[in-house]
Amino acid sequence: EKGGYDYFMLKEIAEQPKAVADTLLGRIDAAGSLTLDEVRIPTSVLREVDKVVVVACGTAFHAGLIAKYAIEHWTRVPCEVELASEFRYRDPILDPRTLVIAISQSGETMDTLMALRHAREQGSKVLAICNTNGSTIPRESDAVLYTHAGPEVAVASTKAFLTQLVACYLVALYLGQVRGTKWGDEIVAVVRDLSKISGEVEKVLETMEPVRALARSLADKNTVLFLGRHVGYPVALEGALKLKELAYMHAEGFAAGELKHGPIALIEDDLPVVVVVPSPRGRSVLHDKIVSNIQEIRARGARTIVIAEEGDEAVVPYADHLIRIPATPTLLQPLVATVPLQVFACELATARGNEVDQPRNLAKSVTVE
Ligand code: F6R
Repeated sequence: EKGGYDYFMLKEIAEQPKAVADTLLGRIDAAGSLTLDEVRIPTSVLREVDKVVVVACGTAFHAGLIAKYAIEHWTRVPCEVELASEFRYRDPILDPRTLVIAISQSGETMDTLMALRHAREQGSKVLAICNTNGSTIPRESDAVLYTHAGPEVAVASTKAFLTQLVACYLVALYLGQVRGTKWGDEIVAVVRDLSKISGEVEKVLETMEPVRALARSLADKNTVLFLGRHVGYPVALEGALKLKELAYMHAEGFAAGELKHGPIALIEDDLPVVVVVPSPRGRSVLHDKIVSNIQEIRARGARTIVIAEEGDEAVVPYADHLIRIPATPTLLQPLVATVPLQVFACELATARGNEVDQPRNLAKSVTVE
């Protein structure tokens, strides 16, 4: 049932183009407008929403962090993202104009369930983004947008994460469409790009052999750091989480702009640092700043592993290892940038002799607080 793969995780990584395409299926019409029939929250209510709060745990939380960039940019509605386990213990400010989005692959995560119950008690509407039909979280929500990743067996989340991102983009674009924000033209363009993204994920998967070789060469390291900015920052966090849970290595993700506020002190000779580089088009200021960061850490001895868009030549002189990803609109980059990090963690786990599908101490669904 692993379909010829050694591990479910490898199979699920390979299934990502299909998972992404399936999650988009039937939700964008020929004219490029969105029809999210399952979102049964009336458009009159969605138009009045004045705040979005995303609650989730682990990898799903990282999807939420990325959702914030998309929601705020495309809808101009303020969005907060919070770990579900922290949320209800701080007496959050919620009312009927708050839209709460609960993201969960399993639909059974106790912390996320408790957070959404708390939100509904305050009168907020809850939209679940979930991969498991009929599970508790969607049952207790006002509406649900299912991700169509298919069953995810490996404990470490891969294809569910990519489909959570797609669902978050759809919700953000839908909110933008319903509210008629000034980004109308951009929304049409992004919807078009989103329809092509499954093919881009496929392309990334075809070029992963050097990433595997690199991972194997790092099997005796103790620490790997991950840097990113803008939507690349949650991608860095996700890369670090995958490495912790699979390779049992010390891994940390940082916002690249924070380097000089502390983390740069960690840089020492031959320390592997993975850097997720934003597109040089679009937010070029951030791109240039990250290139400076790469120079800075390399000058201090770091072994730089750079994930950069095809055609980005500025990074070449400073990359000890260069991983190319296809050019995408800035906000969609996590869909392609995360894939090499999944492959990297999976291969490192294998090289270190770890149980890939069933990492120690972890369970696929966390039904206790
Ligand atoms: C990491 C991972 C976990 C889950 C988290 C939330 O690879 O799988 O961090 O993302 O436990 O689980 P769900 O999405 O089922 O609520």
